[in-house]
Amino acid sequence: MLQLESGWPARVWPALSRGPTPTNAPTLALTLALALALALAGACGPAQGASAPAGELPPVQDTIAQRMQACTVCHGKEGRATNEGYYPRIAGKPAAYLYNQLQHFKTGQRHFPAMRHLLQHMSDDYLHEIASYFAELDLPYPPAQPSTLAASQQAAARQLVFEGAPSRQIPACVSCHGREMAGMLPATPGLLTLPADYLIGQLGAWRTGQRKAAEPDCMATVAQRLTEDDIAVVSRWLSAQTLPLGTHPAPAPTSPMPMRCGSHAP
Ligand code: HEC
Ligand code: HEC
Repeated sequence: MLQLESGWPARVWPALSRGPTPTNAPTLALTLALALALALAGACGPAQGASAPAGELPPVQDTIAQRMQACTVCHGKEGRATNEGYYPRIAGKPAAYLYNQLQHFKTGQRHFPAMRHLLQHMSDDYLHEIASYFAELDLPYPPAQPSTLAASQQAAARQLVFEGAPSRQIPACVSCHGREMAGMLPATPGLLTLPADYLIGQLGAWRTGQRKAAEPDCMATVAQRLTEDDIAVVSRWLSAQTLPLGTHPAPAPTSPMPMRCGSHAP
């Protein structure tokens, strides 16, 4: 059985209090076993042709949508996980961003044993195919949630997102993540509707060096300049917002970004 707990991000970032705990690890391990079985089977859609005569195997369709059902057990229907729990939505994020992440799980620049296990034998071409498949999905986002933050905390979050904190050299999040926070081509993801614990976990992982992007790793610098309070407040604010259906990542910037980001290198 895989050691799911060993890389569990709760250890990386104690603020991940509502994240998965060892108590639900067996369920996860089971889920993973199922996911792996499905992935290995190659095709895993709902049984086709239930009316096929006894003794005759129904035709098996092998499409990428069917093969990717192994991922949807964790990432939600069609890859659109909600803002609950820990699993991130992957549908509609820029293809180059998704590809970079798949590579990083494979090489260990990002740590999550289950993901690494699934990806370890996949070729780069296949990872490109997977990334394009999820990037092209145009699916509804979960509805906005009532904010659990005090008015002053909401104002602080909005300030960071739209204006940054110039005195601490923190650029506005929108300057890289897009004016609508739906991401920016080629390789910056949208952040709205991701689970707050996931966002907190990622920013914490950058601060402790558990997550790394291509050098210069602008997000590591941004995360290091944020305080723990900033992280908690901005993550909870981002998680509670929504986006209208059909919102796509902003086009690639025509002027330089406020900091150099290696992941945007050609
Ligand atoms: C056992 C559950 C599980 C399965 C199955 C799984 N993932 Fe993940 N995936 C996760 C978790 C948890 C994370 C976040 C890990 C972290 O903390 O960095 C993640 C992260 C990702 C990310 C990065 C998302 C982002 O916004 O940065 C991508 C892309 C991804 N997974 C794609 C896939 C694909 C493609 C598959 C199927 C081949 C898959 N995952 C199967 C649990 C899973
Ligand atoms: C200078 C550009 C820049 C700025 C400013 C910036 N980001 Fe980012 N951010 C990036 C890039 C590029 C990535 C993708 C890194 C990678 O490839 O892993 C990223 C990724 C992230 C992720 C990971 C998302 C996921 O799906 O895993 C989070 C969370 C994040 N940023 C939060 C923020 C917040 C909050 C702010 C504002 C306080 C901010 N960022 C400001 C460039 C930036």
